[in-house]
Order: sequence, then structure tokens, then C-alpha cells
Amino acid sequence: MALLYTPKKVEKNHRTFTAKVQGLDYQGLGVAKIEGKTWFIENALPDEKVLVAVLEEKRQYGKGVAKKWLETSAQRVPPACVYYEKCGGCQTQHIPLEMQRQIKEQALFQRLSKLQGEPIALMPRIVGEQWHYRRRLRLSLYWDKKHGLRIGFRQKNSQNIEPVQSCLVIEKPLDNLLPKITALLQQWSNPKNLGHLELVRADNGVALLLRHQKNLAEKDRTLLIEFAQKEHLMLFVQDDEQIQQLYGESPYYELNNRQRLHFDVRDFIQINPQLNQVMIDTALNWLDLTDQDQVLDLFCGMGNFTLPISAQAKQVVGVEGVAEMVHKAAQNAERNGCKNVQFYQADLAQSFSAQQWASLQFNKILLDPPRAGAAFAIPFLAELKAEKIVYVSCNPATLVRDAEMLLQAGYQVKQVAMIDMFPNTGHLESISLFERK
Ligand SMILES: C[S@@+](CC[C@H](N)C(=O)[O-])C[C@H]1O[C@@H](n2cnc3c(N)ncnc32)[C@H](O)[C@@H]1O
Repeated sequence: MALLYTPKKVEKNHRTFTAKVQGLDYQGLGVAKIEGKTWFIENALPDEKVLVAVLEEKRQYGKGVAKKWLETSAQRVPPACVYYEKCGGCQTQHIPLEMQRQIKEQALFQRLSKLQGEPIALMPRIVGEQWHYRRRLRLSLYWDKKHGLRIGFRQKNSQNIEPVQSCLVIEKPLDNLLPKITALLQQWSNPKNLGHLELVRADNGVALLLRHQKNLAEKDRTLLIEFAQKEHLMLFVQDDEQIQQLYGESPYYELNNRQRLHFDVRDFIQINPQLNQVMIDTALNWLDLTDQDQVLDLFCGMGNFTLPISAQAKQVVGVEGVAEMVHKAAQNAERNGCKNVQFYQADLAQSFSAQQWASLQFNKILLDPPRAGAAFAIPFLAELKAEKIVYVSCNPATLVRDAEMLLQAGYQVKQVAMIDMFPNTGHLESISLFERK
């Protein structure tokens, strides 16, 4: 059953060696060159001498994790989270925040600058809170006879679950719920049937989604509904692929306290609300929108950028792959009185040139693809010859690949900024402005 999983056995007998760490990559891994091979080492800082346990070895590079510190860097900071040693969540807590930001910014800037060969303006970093910034979390639930029910996050380099009672990166209303959820699920009549649990902090309360194999027992259903009533939650239960709402309203979040975006509990939403707003403001500012602009928003989700763009442009078209999100986006536009917006469903990784929207003219483009990037869509974008393209990226590797195609098509990178959307993790979000030469 896809909803549930069995923890895999962890490999215990890793090969070990000693390494002097020379650098740090943007994901926060220590870098050491040994006999021509580059090693990426978890929990190791420049100038440290560490005993490395090998996790993976290829011909050109290897991955390992520091197990002992023979020399320690003065820059190392004690991790703030008590679960840091085991939990696989926030693996760069040992790196000072300023250094985390610097390595991400440098990696982004250097990669794009190397590609372009001409100057790029490095814009001020977009930064927010270091802790309690996530409005979404997913808790793994696993029951076996020996350990009972474990509720927590996947362990580092393992499929096992690390039980947690609190988490420093999720927003406080979610954090406050963790012990209560643990207490609730410990009373479950069939814990074997528990899949996983998701929490999303919307602007009208917290939504809880429980994945459950088989139907809920009546007693568990009552427990869950009473819990939702007491904690003012929006309650959803999913068995197989069916989601049922058992209590509360439909979740939404607001942009600039003005536009209200409803979403389904499983939909993609930007997880850092504070920086989401700044990112949108920055994108609109860089697009330099006027009431004459025809804008295309690719990978638009349920309108996170599209609706704010509509307030400043003549016309905006949003394109998204998930049909339900397109539907939601159209409803959001209607609810917010945005009359100059159309949404279309398209798989942007396959041919879409026959679609109606693909024959329209656009002079400005925003794209915010998933980690895989937008390679398939770039030749089409190049043909549109739009004056400005703002590219929001969550993966520098695919950004650089796509940027290379845009450069070949006559664009240049004007400016770029690192967005510290996910502090204490190796994830790198960024925003880049491309202009036609
Ligand atoms: C990083 S999210 C951005 C969503 C939106 N711009 C936002 O800010 O909330 C990427 C979006 O691309 C969509 N997506 C992923 N692969 C796609 C594809 N092949 N074609 C079209 N959309 C896709 C996802 O469903 C998701 O909504």
C-alpha cells in the first residue's frame, strides 16, 4: 500500500577515513579533495579534520558523514534543536546563519556569472526568520509491536522515524499541536492503519490531514472530530486517494492582507509565508509592470503570483499542470474580482504548442518551476521574445541549465537575489531577472 511504508535496515559497517575539509558547498556539505576525488561530507566545516563514514562512492566523487572531529572549526555553532543528531530535517544548524546565507548566495552568483561572463547585479538577499518559518509539515506515523506508535520525522540517511515532540522550524501554532497530536494518536484503536499526517497553517486556522488505510473506526472518527473542534482545526481524512473533509472551513491564505487564495489541503503552497510575500513583491517590481503588459505566469499553482500580477498588468495568463489547482486558481481569481486573468491546464514538460494560450503574445513572463526546472518550456519562451523574464527557482542546477538556453536565445541575466526561504537546510531558492539584449 503506497500510504504506508516499512523502515529499511540501516547499513552499519561504513568504510571510514580521515579528511581535512577545505570548503563548503551551498547545501552545507564540507568539501575535501582526496587523491583527485571530491568528497561531500555532512556535518563538516572548512579547516576541520574529521573521521568520515562513507555513505556513497562513485568514480569522481563520494558522499560521507563526519563521525568524529579531530580538529574543530571555531565557526561551528551548537545546533539549537535537540533532535539534530538524528532527525533528517534541518541539517545545517551547525553552520552560522550568516555563513549559510553567504554560501548559498555565492554559489548562485558564481554559477550564473561564470555562465554569462558579463556582469550580473547581485541584489540584496531576501531573508526572514531563522526559526519557526514553515507553515506546513508532514509527520510520519509508524506502528510496530515492539516500539508501539512512533510519530516524527525520517532520520538522517535512513527510513527510520525519529519521534519528535517539538520542531523549531515549523510555525508556533503547529509546534504547539505536536504533543497534543501524539497524545491523540496514542489512543488510536488501529494504529497499524495510520499512514501519515500533514498540518498546514492557513490564515483561517490550521488544517490537519490524516492519511489512513481502511475506513476509520467509529471511535477514532469521534476522537478526531472532537479534537478538531477543541483545537479549531479544519479536518481532512484521506483513505486511498479520496479526501474527505470532516470539520471546518476551506483553508486560505492572504496576500498583502488583500487577496485571498483558497487551496486544497494537498496543494502546493509556498511554505514560508513571510518570504513568499517579499518574493512576490520583488518579482512584480523586477517585471516593472504597467497596465499595458500582457504577462504569462508558468507553473502558476493556484495563482500565488498570477493574482498579484493581475492587479498591475493589462492581462495575465496562468498555466499549471494540476487540473484541480487550475480550477482553484480560476475560483480564486473570481472571488478576488480579477477579471483580466485566465488559467489553463498544461503539462509544461510535453508539447503544448497546440493549446490556445500558446498562440497569444506576452511581453513579460514569470516562471516558478519545480526542482526539475523548465527545460522543455524554454525554447517556447525564447520564441515569445518577451522583454523581461523573472525566473523563480528552487534548484540552482536546473536554473543554470535553463539560464544557458535563455542566454543562447539572446537574453542576459540582469540581476539575481538569493531567497533564504529554508534556513538550516541545504535548499536554495532564488530569483533572477532575464532581459532581451
Ligand atoms: C514551485 S511550484 C510553484 C507554484 C506557484 N507559482 C506558487 O508560487 O505557489 C511549481 C508548480 O508547478 C506545477 N508543475 C509541476 N510540474 C509541472 C508540469 N510538468 N507542467 C505544469 N505544471 C507543473 C506544480 O503543480 C506546482 O504548482
